[in-house]
Order: sequence, then C-alpha cells, then structure tokens
Amino acid sequence: MEVNKVCIVGAGVMGSQLAQLFASSGYEVSMTDIEDRFIQNGLNAIKSNLKKYFVDKGKMTQEQADKIVARIKGTTDLKRATERVQLVVESVPEEMELKKQTFKRLDELCAPETILASNTSALSITAVGSLTRRQDKVIGMHFFNPVAVMKLVEIIPGVKTSDETCQVIKDVAGKLGKETIIVNKDVPGFVVSRLFLVLCNEAVKLLEEGVASAEDIDKACQLGLGHAMGPFRSQDIVNGIPVGLHALDYMRAELGEFYRPCPLWRRKVEAGELGVKTGKGFYDYSQQR
Ligand SMILES: NC(=O)c1ccc[n+]([C@@H]2O[C@H](COP(=O)([O-])OP(=O)(O)OC[C@H]3O[C@@H](n4cnc5c(N)ncnc54)[C@H](O)[C@@H]3O)[C@@H](O)[C@H]2O)c1
Repeated sequence: MEVNKVCIVGAGVMGSQLAQLFASSGYEVSMTDIEDRFIQNGLNAIKSNLKKYFVDKGKMTQEQADKIVARIKGTTDLKRATERVQLVVESVPEEMELKKQTFKRLDELCAPETILASNTSALSITAVGSLTRRQDKVIGMHFFNPVAVMKLVEIIPGVKTSDETCQVIKDVAGKLGKETIIVNKDVPGFVVSRLFLVLCNEAVKLLEEGVASAEDIDKACQLGLGHAMGPFRSQDIVNGIPVGLHALDYMRAELGEFYRPCPLWRRKVEAGELGVKTGKGFYDYSQQR
C-alpha cells in the first residue's frame, strides 16, 4: 500500500514534531487535537523548530520551511482530518482508556484499509486497538524525542497485526530517514522504555539513598556509560517525570514488583515538580524563566 497522506492525532510535544517530520519527508499531513489553540500551539512549535534548527543553521531556506508548513493542515474535526489518509499516527496522552476510545472512533471514521498506529511509549498495542474491527491494521510506531534527531523507530505489532501492516510501517519509517527495530512481543515498555525506565528508577533510588547527587549520577551516565545525557536532566526536559511514573506503574501492574517506582519519583509528581516546564524537576530552573 502506498502511503502519501497521514493524520496525526494530538498536536502536543510529540504530535507536532511528528507532523513536522512527515511533512518534511513530503507527506501530506492533517494534524488534529481537541481544541484549536492546541493546534495553533503545535503549528507555532513547528515553525519555530524549522527556523531555529534548519533555516538559521543554513540547512534549509525559509521558502523550503514554508512549503513544509503548508503541507500540514490543522483541524479539530477528526472526520475531516482522516479523509483520504492511508495512515494515522495517534499521539494523545498516555492513558489507556483515552487511547482505546480514540482508536474506536478512528476505526469508525477511517477507510477500511487505513493503518492505525500508536506512538505510545509503553502501553499494550493489542489493548489500545482492542475496540477496533481492524486489529490486523493496528500497530505501535514509537518515535523518540527530539523526533528530528533521534534515529530510531520501534515497531510493535499487536497480537493480531498482519505482516503486511508491519512492512508498510517499516517502509514509511525508512522514508522518514529512520532506523527500525521490531519488538516481537507486545510487552509493556517494549525495548527502549523498559531499559530506560529501569535505569531512571535506579538513578532515583541512588539519589534517595544519598549515594550521589543528581549532578554526579548524570555525570556518571555521560562519562562512565557514554550516554548523551544523564537520566535526571533527560527526564526533566522530556516531561519524563509524570509520563515515566505512569509507565512504571503500568509495567509494575503487568510485569511485577521489580518495576515499582521509587517513592521519591512519586513525591516529585505529587509536588508538581515535573521538570523544565514547571520550573523544577530533579533540577531547579526557576532562575532561567
Ligand atoms: N514526550 C515524549 O518525549 C514522548 C516520547 C515518545 C512517545 N511519547 C508518547 O507520545 C504520546 C503523546 O505524548 P506528548 O508528550 O506529545 O503529550 P502532550 O500532552 O504534549 O500531547 C498530547 C496532545 O493530545 C491532545 N489530545 C488529548 N485528547 C485528545 C483527543 N481525544 N483527540 C486528539 N487530541 C487529543 C492534547 O490536547 C495534547 O495536545 C504519549 O503516548 C507518550 O507516551 C512521548
């Protein structure tokens, strides 16, 4: 199946970057959200990203950036957004019931051949697509933040996903310039989130036990393990404190006690210390605002 028009559901942190990526690779894109102001925020984020990281760095002209933005049509009308699309990539908040209902609605609106992909970081793809009548065309397509930079896409087939659906998604990811891995079993957290969240949880435990400071644990991961960024800084930047806690709770419920989040992590969420966006997470950003 030839994919040339894509619908992105959810214009937030990831959805807006996905719209930018698809449009930059020549796809026609519709981007939808529940309120127009979220779509406008998404479009503004795309424009400023293109300017800051591409035009100002001489990697593209302003005219090329404008053409990319022109390929993205925003609408709050899901029916209109899904007209003539061969692929939907859902990127609404990480809540199982919300994703299930979103997929049910997408199944009702989309043409029978349309593939429904989820950008979930950890939730079961089989469960997300369970209310649809096209479970063979439901799949996980997990991108990483920042989308333009991170080379990987995790592809997660659900229990009933067809090989053909997998192949189409693999081809699309290739056209987006991404490398892929196939996650053979639809397990919570897949590969990347599972590895990363266990590392983050252990880092929070080390901090809580007073073994080392957040700065030194981050430094250890960067200089001792070769990571580009330490777990605390990274969680602060990508909204990982609330999202990661939710994912760990889910993994603990599905996979066992090993994944129990460290209490300090939960206290951060309860205190509203969610990272850069709230001025404090594991680090303090109040002076930078
Ligand atoms: N933030 C990351 O670094 C990251 C990385 C990889 C994957 N993910 C996954 O991507 C998904 C989205 O995460 P995010 O960080 O972009 O969240 P976000 O909160 O920034 O964006 C979600 C958007 O979805 C919209 N939305 C809510 N309900 C909707 C509905 N019914 N229909 C359409 N839009 C709706 C919200 O208004 C919001 O704009 C999650 O599943 C998350 O696990 C996030």
